[in-house]
Amino acid sequence: MRYSEINLNHKTILITGGAGFIGSNLAFYFQENYPDAHVVVLDLFRSNLTLSNGNLKSFGHFKNLLGFRGEVISGDINDKELLSTLSQNYKFDYIFHEAAISDTTVLEQDLMIQTNVNAFKDLLDIAVVHGANMIYASSGATYGDAPSPQCVGCEAPQNVYGFSKLMMDHLARQYSQKFENISIVGLRYFNVYGPREFFKNKTASMVVQFGHQLLSGKNPKLFENSDKILRDFIYIEDIIQANILAMHPKENGVFNVGTGKARSFQSMVDILQKELGTSFTCEYIPNPYVGRYQFHTEADIESTKAILGYAPRFEFEEGIAAYVPEIKRLFEQELS
Ligand SMILES: NC(=O)c1ccc[n+]([C@@H]2O[C@H](COP(=O)([O-])OP(=O)(O)OC[C@H]3O[C@@H](n4cnc5c(N)ncnc54)[C@H](O)[C@@H]3O)[C@@H](O)[C@H]2O)c1
Repeated sequence: MRYSEINLNHKTILITGGAGFIGSNLAFYFQENYPDAHVVVLDLFRSNLTLSNGNLKSFGHFKNLLGFRGEVISGDINDKELLSTLSQNYKFDYIFHEAAISDTTVLEQDLMIQTNVNAFKDLLDIAVVHGANMIYASSGATYGDAPSPQCVGCEAPQNVYGFSKLMMDHLARQYSQKFENISIVGLRYFNVYGPREFFKNKTASMVVQFGHQLLSGKNPKLFENSDKILRDFIYIEDIIQANILAMHPKENGVFNVGTGKARSFQSMVDILQKELGTSFTCEYIPNPYVGRYQFHTEADIESTKAILGYAPRFEFEEGIAAYVPEIKRLFEQELS
C-alpha cells in the first residue's frame, strides 16, 4: 500500500540498519511499492561479539533481507572512511537512519554515544551535502517514566540509550535551523512489534516471545500486576507509514509514533491466546525492575497527525492477528 504519491523513479535511498527489524521492513516496502528506486542498505550485521549485558553488539541478520534485490553493504557507521567513500560514490536523495545500538539495556556509554549520536552527525553532514531528506529513528525511551501521554518536550531518559536518542533530537534541531536545503524528521517509535524482529533475540518484542512460549506449550510468565503495566504497542506497518509520510513533511521536527493508546501486557497474552487457540494459565513473577521501569507509556500523537498526516491503522488486536502467521512460521522454521 502506498501512503503518499511520491515519484521515486531513479531516486537513491540509503537505509542504515537495513538488515535489522525496522530497516529491512522499509527496504521491502520500497522494493514492493517503488521498484524503480535504488535502495542501498548499510548495516554492520552480526558477529559473535557481545556486550557486557551478554547480548549481541549488533542484531542485523541476512535472513531479514532474503528476497531483497537492492544493494547491501556491510559496514560500521562509526567508520568515517567508509562514510566518506559512500558520500563520494553515491548521491542519496533520502536517508532513513535506523542503525543504532537498539538494545535499551546496554551499559557501554562510550559505544552508545559514539554509535547513536556521533555517527548520526556524520550522516547528517552527508545528507546536507547530498541534499538528502533525513528521516531518523528516535525513541519513546527519551521519555523515561514521564507522565502519560508523553509529548515532545517532557523527556526524562532513564538510561543511556534514551539519553543518546534525545541527543540525536537536539542535533537534528540544530541542523534544521542551520540548513534549509533538506528536511529532517525524527520519529519517536514506541514499542514496535511485527515481522523481522525475531533476530533481535531477547530484545525482540514480548509479542513474539510470548507467542513462542504459548506455541511450545508453556504457561506464559508475566510480571505481577501485568494488567496495570501499560505500553503503547505499535505494529510495524504503522511505523513504515510514518516513515513514508516523513519523507516530505510540512515542517521539520520530532514526532511520536505510537497508537495513542496504552495496552497492558496481560491483554497482549490474552489476545495471543485467543489467536493461537490456547488457554494456558498465566504465572505471575515479581517484577525485578520496580523503581527503574516504565509503567505507563502512551504517545501523544496529535502533532504527528497534524504535521505528517499520520493515522495509525492497527489496533493491538489487529496487529497481533496480522502477525500470528509469521509467529507460527518462525516457531516451525527457526525454533523447532
Ligand atoms: N523496535 C523498537 O521497538 C524501537 C523503538 C524505538 C526506537 N527504535 C529505534 O529504531 C531503530 C531500528 O530499530 P530496530 O528495532 O530495527 O533494531 P535492530 O537492532 O533490529 O536494527 C538496528 C540495526 O542497526 C545495525 N547496527 C548496529 N550498530 C551498527 C553500526 N555501528 N553500524 C551499522 N549498523 C549498525 C544492527 O546490525 C541492526 O541491524 C533503532 O535506531 C532503534 O533504536 C526501535
